[in-house]
Amino acid sequence: MPFKQDFLWGGAVAAHQIEGAYNKDGRGLSTADVMTGGANGVDREITKGVVAGKYYPNHEAINFYYHYKEDIALFKELGLKAFRTSISWSRIFPNGDDEIANEAGLAFYDRLFDELNEAGIVPVITLSHFEIPYHLYEAYGGFKNKKLIDFYVKYAETVMRRYKDKVKYWMTFNEINNQAGGDWDIHAWCNSAVQFVADDNREEIIYQASLNELIASAKVVKLGHEINPNFQIGCMMAYVPVYPYSANPSDQIAAIKAMDGRYFYSDIHVRGKIPRYVLNYWKEHDYRIDYSQEELEILKAGTVDYIGFSYYMSDAVTEIAELDGWKYSKFSQAKISKNPYIHASDWGWQIDPVGLRYVLNSVYERYEKPLFVVENGLGAYDKLETDGSIHDTYRIKYLQEHIKQMELAVDEDGVELIGYTPWGIIDIVSFGSGEMEKRYGMIYVDKDNEGKGTLKRSKKDSFNWYQTVIKNNGLT
Ligand code: BG6
Repeated sequence: MPFKQDFLWGGAVAAHQIEGAYNKDGRGLSTADVMTGGANGVDREITKGVVAGKYYPNHEAINFYYHYKEDIALFKELGLKAFRTSISWSRIFPNGDDEIANEAGLAFYDRLFDELNEAGIVPVITLSHFEIPYHLYEAYGGFKNKKLIDFYVKYAETVMRRYKDKVKYWMTFNEINNQAGGDWDIHAWCNSAVQFVADDNREEIIYQASLNELIASAKVVKLGHEINPNFQIGCMMAYVPVYPYSANPSDQIAAIKAMDGRYFYSDIHVRGKIPRYVLNYWKEHDYRIDYSQEELEILKAGTVDYIGFSYYMSDAVTEIAELDGWKYSKFSQAKISKNPYIHASDWGWQIDPVGLRYVLNSVYERYEKPLFVVENGLGAYDKLETDGSIHDTYRIKYLQEHIKQMELAVDEDGVELIGYTPWGIIDIVSFGSGEMEKRYGMIYVDKDNEGKGTLKRSKKDSFNWYQTVIKNNGLT
């Protein structure tokens, strides 16, 4: 067996995509609460506060806040050894800058972590998974403002002290590198609570916000280890390998440069210093990124214990002019292009199981730190049969092919891998589109894109399949 006996087979979700109860028990508004429902290919709108008459799918989500016992019983039956979720920051500090933490919010996570631990399921907790108290945007402009470093550290310290005997695995910021370049409004918003105005230099702003988060993360890693030396505190990256489209040498360089823009984040998390390629880039573009000598020392003192990452797809990059595509990296003129060797999901995500082995190898060789696949999965349309069954063979195939590549990476390539928590173990609100019908789960939730449904949970075929995988500690 390639995997160790204590390998963390699990499932992953995030607070805002499951909990609902967005205004219950003293919770404040978060950045996720002002995102309307979109559709496949239609962006979600980010509104100024909550606007009457608009539909916000995260407000109820799958109502996990009230269903968590029933759901954890299903996770136990499935055999999960780990469950990754996040803490909703605005449940703990409703405005983000409050003096005192909200006891009702803290008590909810006490109940949740107790329930998981009693079921023998290890909680894996992200401190900020695409949600930040909305007030921190309104009053401070989000993470481009250095004041947010202290608010985040205070929040993290509060929860790490409170749950120090209940949670061992932590991650600081979800997919922190998805905001690279400032290309996507939705990522500037969910990663950093930043919104741009017309003349903004988006890339410069995002570098500043990102560096502030990386400093906050390093502070929290150091503090966390003081609170409990057994804590394992990781970063969380979105690794989308960018292959050179052709053997043209310029495509090779384009691929390296496209990856640099995203590696910037884990290079700091893991190595504790700002990489030279970025320092050169800032200089060349005359970006005035604000940081002090003291902050550089903080980065050095707070390097992570492991690298958590999501893996869904790969990209290809080229400078060959005739190909259509969009610009990914401002390091070169290269454009992202469709890879003719792989096919895409219904949402256009290019499915590439071998790419997971590629990522595991390249990241492990780069950092030699334990790796943890904390997201992977297929968003697909599922059909609920009249007898209540769901035959999701496509999902089983997807997961099987990815697990196979993980096995090769561990067995043949010697990669150190501590766990695998497929995304959306239970159907949840899609982050990107706000849909319920982009389903990842092995447990079906009866709810549609308009928010209608009974919220009843049913097992899909993938539930039984994954149960066997966990029992056998891998594929048979
Ligand atoms: C990752 C996020 O980007 O991908 C999750 O960490 C998200 O929050 C997941 O849900 C899948 O994306 P989507 O848009 O299909 O929900």
